[in-house]
Amino acid sequence: MADSVRVTVETELSDATVDQFWALYQVAFEPLLTRSAARQVLTAEEFRAEMTDPRVDKYLAWDGDEVIGLSTLTRHLETVPWISPQYFTARFPEHAARNAIFYLGITLTAPGRRQSGAYVAMISSAIATIVEARGICGYDVSAYHRDEMNYADNLARFIKRRARAEVEVIDEQTYFLADLDQG
Ligand SMILES: CC(C)(COP(=O)(O)OP(=O)(O)OC[C@H]1O[C@@H](n2cnc3c(N)ncnc32)[C@H](O)[C@@H]1OP(=O)(O)O)[C@@H](O)C(=O)NCCC(=O)NCCS
Repeated sequence: MADSVRVTVETELSDATVDQFWALYQVAFEPLLTRSAARQVLTAEEFRAEMTDPRVDKYLAWDGDEVIGLSTLTRHLETVPWISPQYFTARFPEHAARNAIFYLGITLTAPGRRQSGAYVAMISSAIATIVEARGICGYDVSAYHRDEMNYADNLARFIKRRARAEVEVIDEQTYFLADLDQG
């Protein structure tokens, strides 16, 4: 099965594909609505805008003529509203000058098609793009995906192995709660 997964890179998805992935996205990311204090989940409008924004590349995984997975990668950091592009350009001016700073966004595989190599194929293709550009790539992971799903460790290990690259934590945000209910 893994051998049959192929990846294409597209800039704008059709309405039908956007609808298909919006449904999958809602199911996949819904847990974060109640598990994460930060807003991790895009609205329908934000999702559609990203899926039709030509500045954001969509890596699609296909099994035959059926699309089963989606990952996003962009060199336009201004399309990621919760990061500071200036941080990356100040820290990596040489890469910025070569337009070689990337950000990895959403990843998801259709629930019935998991464990079939779609994710590995999409991420491998994205990594190849970044390696070819001699780029650097940022990404962020919720505490839920980091701690409960071990997603961050898996991805870091995968990148290190695939591209013999270093992966470091560059920032963290902590959300506090003051309980002033003294009743
Ligand atoms: C995470 C997800 C994209 C994996 O998709 P998938 O197509 O089933 O993955 P593949 O079949 O290519 O590979 C599965 C393998 O990748 C490994 N893996 C899981 N997370 C990984 C990661 N972040 N990086 C690299 N490998 C990872 C798994 O251990 C699994 O290996 P195994 O089969 O030996 O157990 C999928 O489970 C999903 O859509 N989850 C819901 C959305 C989500 O959590 N997205 C990630 C956070 S943005």
